[in-house]
Amino acid sequence: VTAEKAGYDHFMLKEIYEQPKAYRDTMMGRVSEDGKSVVLKEIGMTAEQIKAIRKVHIVACGTAFHAGLVGKTIIENLARIPVETDVASEYRYRSPIITPDTLVIVVSQSGETADTLAALREAKRNGARVLAVTNVVGSSVAREADDVIITQAGPEIAVASTKAYTSQLIAFSLFGLYLAEVLGTKDGAWVAEVLDAMHRLPEQVEAILAQANVLKQVAESISKHDNLFFIGRGVDFAVAQEGSLKLKEISYIHSEAYAAGELKHGTLALIEEGIPVIAVITQEDLYEKTLSNIKEVKARGAHVLAIVNEGMEHEVAKSVDETFVIPKTLQVLAPALSVVPLQLIAYYASLARGNDVDKPRNLAKSVTVE
Ligand code: G6P
Repeated sequence: VTAEKAGYDHFMLKEIYEQPKAYRDTMMGRVSEDGKSVVLKEIGMTAEQIKAIRKVHIVACGTAFHAGLVGKTIIENLARIPVETDVASEYRYRSPIITPDTLVIVVSQSGETADTLAALREAKRNGARVLAVTNVVGSSVAREADDVIITQAGPEIAVASTKAYTSQLIAFSLFGLYLAEVLGTKDGAWVAEVLDAMHRLPEQVEAILAQANVLKQVAESISKHDNLFFIGRGVDFAVAQEGSLKLKEISYIHSEAYAAGELKHGTLALIEEGIPVIAVITQEDLYEKTLSNIKEVKARGAHVLAIVNEGMEHEVAKSVDETFVIPKTLQVLAPALSVVPLQLIAYYASLARGNDVDKPRNLAKSVTVE
């Protein structure tokens, strides 16, 4: 077993450290040789079919759903097509309005999640085209979808998903750029700039991993609390939701992720002296707004850690207790970096509590029955 973990104490830690490779592998063969455009040979849709798409539904469970939340922003920003997101167990029973001009994207690491598979079948019954983003070649979801993008994360063993999630973010970025190129919603120079920034992500993740010790200390102090909050806006809110789920799954600490601007409509009542708040703040255009929400929780005694991108850290540091700086990238790609410290915090908090990190209680890697 030790050999399989390649010297790491747990599969989860190994998989967190495999992310730079997973990013590279998921991009490999999907970018033109000049580095300027996306090549997705696996997409069978013609340009005409893509131009006919009027709406996108992204459907998934758990962590894959959280990748879908980021995917929504990517597709709406890059391709200007309206996107709805649903958890599969809701989607399949709510009579979703699926028409032949709907593209349904199902996201599933295993490709075997029962609700996600049922949602895919419901979409097909209603005449929609289905694109699967999955990590497993030949899985049920891969076999039944019309188009498949395989994330090249490699086998994921730990119940808490890490490298599969970030590979799904890479897949959404590639697909969003692909749509933008076909639809002409973004110019070539911009596409090339995003691809260039994507190529830098692996070494930027490595720079974050090199600071794991700092996050271990943060996690050890968090592990003594019973409640905490994650806040953010836009994609930072999507990442906050994933950070909160990761922490709950393996540390069993209760946490809630909140859209930073919504706090004052109820949840602020729960903020009391000493409660940890992790604020994700990577979006320059929203930064003043999130900062004012940080000040609201600080004024009520919260202990705030900000996950902030390079360039904004000095300003943010004035209003928080601690900062963790992530390397600078394009706003739309920030989740592929900002989630990594949250994964490590969850890992070390679980460890500090003496839990079974790779096999948390009550949870399964893949939920193939209802
Ligand atoms: C289970 C796992 C989660 C995972 C979810 C969806 O609940 O514990 O980590 O995110 O299933 O799995 P999938 O294989 O469809 O991505």
